[in-house]
Amino acid sequence: MNIKAPPGTFDIIPQDTHENWHDSYLWAHAESIFRELSRRFGYEEIRTPIFERAELFQRGVGESSDIVLKEMYTFEDKGKRLMALRPEGTAPVLRAFIEHHLHAQSTLHKLFYIAPMFRYERAQAGRYRQHHQFGAEAIGNDTPEQDVEMIDLACSVYKELGLENLKIQLNSIGDLESRTAFRVELKKFLHPSLNKLSEDSQRRYEINPLRILDSKDPGDQEILIGAPSILDFLDQASCARFKRVQALLDDLELNYEVNPRLVRGLDYYVETVFEITSGDLGAQNSIGGGGRYNGLLKKLGGPDLPCIGFATGIERIILTLLKQGIATPKPMGPTIFLIGLDQDAKKACFHILHKLRQKGISAQMDFSTRKLPKLMQYADSIGAQHVAVIGENELSSGMVDIKELSTGNIKKHELNALHEIFQKIQTRSVWT
Ligand code: HAM
Repeated sequence: MNIKAPPGTFDIIPQDTHENWHDSYLWAHAESIFRELSRRFGYEEIRTPIFERAELFQRGVGESSDIVLKEMYTFEDKGKRLMALRPEGTAPVLRAFIEHHLHAQSTLHKLFYIAPMFRYERAQAGRYRQHHQFGAEAIGNDTPEQDVEMIDLACSVYKELGLENLKIQLNSIGDLESRTAFRVELKKFLHPSLNKLSEDSQRRYEINPLRILDSKDPGDQEILIGAPSILDFLDQASCARFKRVQALLDDLELNYEVNPRLVRGLDYYVETVFEITSGDLGAQNSIGGGGRYNGLLKKLGGPDLPCIGFATGIERIILTLLKQGIATPKPMGPTIFLIGLDQDAKKACFHILHKLRQKGISAQMDFSTRKLPKLMQYADSIGAQHVAVIGENELSSGMVDIKELSTGNIKKHELNALHEIFQKIQTRSVWT
């Protein structure tokens, strides 16, 4: 029997063309940008287990979210505890924050993660059962500036990656009181058309009617024409914050669109919410999203600190990158490729190879019995910068010709000093 990866999952593997979104070099490229931007914005890395007690997500993400209702991978472990594969990163970050008393260390905490998430969704292009997120959470600051810093971080990541044709959608869903009042009005508005709503929306009508607002169903969208707007229900403080957030975004020249229908699918959000969509992703066009979630830390048993965060799907980033034909840096081949022509030369090459690598130089040789022309072809195909062919003559003279493949230039060097010569050459990093 041929065992394949489970549906909705995939392998990330090295590929020669670097044009397939499964290519591990593309992933390493994106991840290096996440790390660099996190450093620039002052976010530190956090890693949490891929499984947690299911209760964390039931309480954290919310009983009425699709993630908890329909999509969690839960299992009972041998100790009869109900566990869940992590469907999202925010609740685990807060769990770890509380468990390690991080609040005692400083007043502001800025954390990032790059991690796989698991949701039992109907798999399709851009939607997977294991997907990966780069996410960031800022804990301890409640200012509009912090809201905008988070949006700026998201946009900076996309900009650095070269992505275009993205839209920031922005909304404020106010505090709990405003939302309760809005919920009543929205239900009143929808009630006469209840039977005409899609099955999903009918189910949401009782448990989370706000989610009907971002239904993609065309019939639902028609019914929603003329629906009340959450923005008319915000209290003075929420209105002032929302205005300030917009003014700060204007100041940074980050273009956005206010979308009063944007509510996001997780129950923990309050006040500022945002989503970034890509015009090149088809139906699954949300490339990243986030918002403020004051109150969640306290609900999970921690101190009452304000929080905001966002996460972006790495699959969707890479799909957009390829769709837009954005050139990504190609991985560099070895600085030198060694070819030994006979057994003695191969033995000497093996020793030199070790010495070069100890000095930090990327060096390779082929351990097979392939002949010189094939080995030269191979060195070229892996992008080797230099080749040294070593035989009887080189061993007896102690000198070897080093050929630079890009120019064809040849220079003679001392065999025993190769590591010193290449140490001078090797100053470039893998991604330059
Ligand atoms: P989310 O919107 O559920 O938010 O997911 C964030 C991003 O992950 C989405 O915009 C999308 O790019 C990607 N994504 C989600 N589900 C899938 C899937 N099945 N396949 C591929 N990509 C997917 C959260 O998870 C929140 N924890 C974000 C957050 C952090 N809010 C505050 N802090």
